[in-house]
Amino acid sequence: MIIELVDHADHEDAEQLAALLRSRGGSPHIVRWPGRWLILETAQDIDETWLRQLPIVARVVGSTDPHPLSGRKFQSVSTMIEVAGRWIGDGTFLVIAGPCAVESREQLAATAAVVTSAKASMLRGGAFKPRTSPYSFQGLGVRGLELLAEERLRSGLPVVTEAIQPKDVETVAEYADVVQVGARNMQNYALLGEVGRCGRPVLLKRGLAATIQEWLLAAEYVMNAGNPQVMLCERGIRTFETASRFTLDLAAVPIVKRLSHLPIIVDPSHSAGRAFMVPSLTLAAAAAGADGVIVDVHNDPASALCDADQALSSEEFKSTMVDLERVLAVLGRHVA
Ligand code: E4P
Ligand code: PEP
Repeated sequence: MIIELVDHADHEDAEQLAALLRSRGGSPHIVRWPGRWLILETAQDIDETWLRQLPIVARVVGSTDPHPLSGRKFQSVSTMIEVAGRWIGDGTFLVIAGPCAVESREQLAATAAVVTSAKASMLRGGAFKPRTSPYSFQGLGVRGLELLAEERLRSGLPVVTEAIQPKDVETVAEYADVVQVGARNMQNYALLGEVGRCGRPVLLKRGLAATIQEWLLAAEYVMNAGNPQVMLCERGIRTFETASRFTLDLAAVPIVKRLSHLPIIVDPSHSAGRAFMVPSLTLAAAAAGADGVIVDVHNDPASALCDADQALSSEEFKSTMVDLERVLAVLGRHVA
């Protein structure tokens, strides 16, 4: 269950109630939620009627969800996240676009110009790259973050970039508007805790072989560290199929929408692995009810230092945006 304390309760009140719960055989977890204290109680036999009449308790949610904070029982209304004046989860469709990796000032500027003129909502770009091979391009690190910050200033687009180690989160959060946790790190619990404390919205990708429940539990790590601003990202899972890089699980969109109040976006690029599928999967994500997409775009895909095969060229991205607006219009939606 989730026990919500009254507005004026403080940490000491939360500690006192937690001690009381422990004395009755409970296993309470205190969570600092924006504007209030919560206690998550996993023991089944705590008397809810007793709890409800305590003056310090505002609400008791009898949730048995394994993922209580991200679940619909705790919050029936869908979460909306504001990022530098743009909203995720408000019915508009977010398009995050940009290079897989920041490679140079020229490459980022040229790609960002395309992304801006096609009216995307945010700029993506990896500064710290999680690569399969230690010999592949690992990203420009802090220099990459600086280049992203320059482009944010020039384009006005909020920036999404990945942190791959707990020790980098603070620095990444200084430059980024949204901190990404990649598929490979979905179960890096130290990293999840750190992004939970970073004060920025978090884009949490689904692990390469994670179930939806494991993914929601990963979100729970971020949220119970005090950060409710989590957007999920379906990016394909590993199956027996080899024709695409990963199998895009579009069913995850309605499933997550039913189980959770968190927004969910789709990554057609990393799932497909090849650019020719990306436009169709982008439109499919919109039709499936996703809150947005994150798409790899490169000013010269053939020369990309990371994931070259899946990057859309400038022309391909522009025409995808035109088709996307048409599909969204049928659904009464538009790009954020
Ligand atoms: C994401 O951008 C990853 O860094 C990339 O997909 C890794 O691919 P790799 O297997 O070529 O390193
Ligand atoms: C990325 O978006 O840069 C990335 C690393 O993707 P994924 O974590 O989905 O592989």
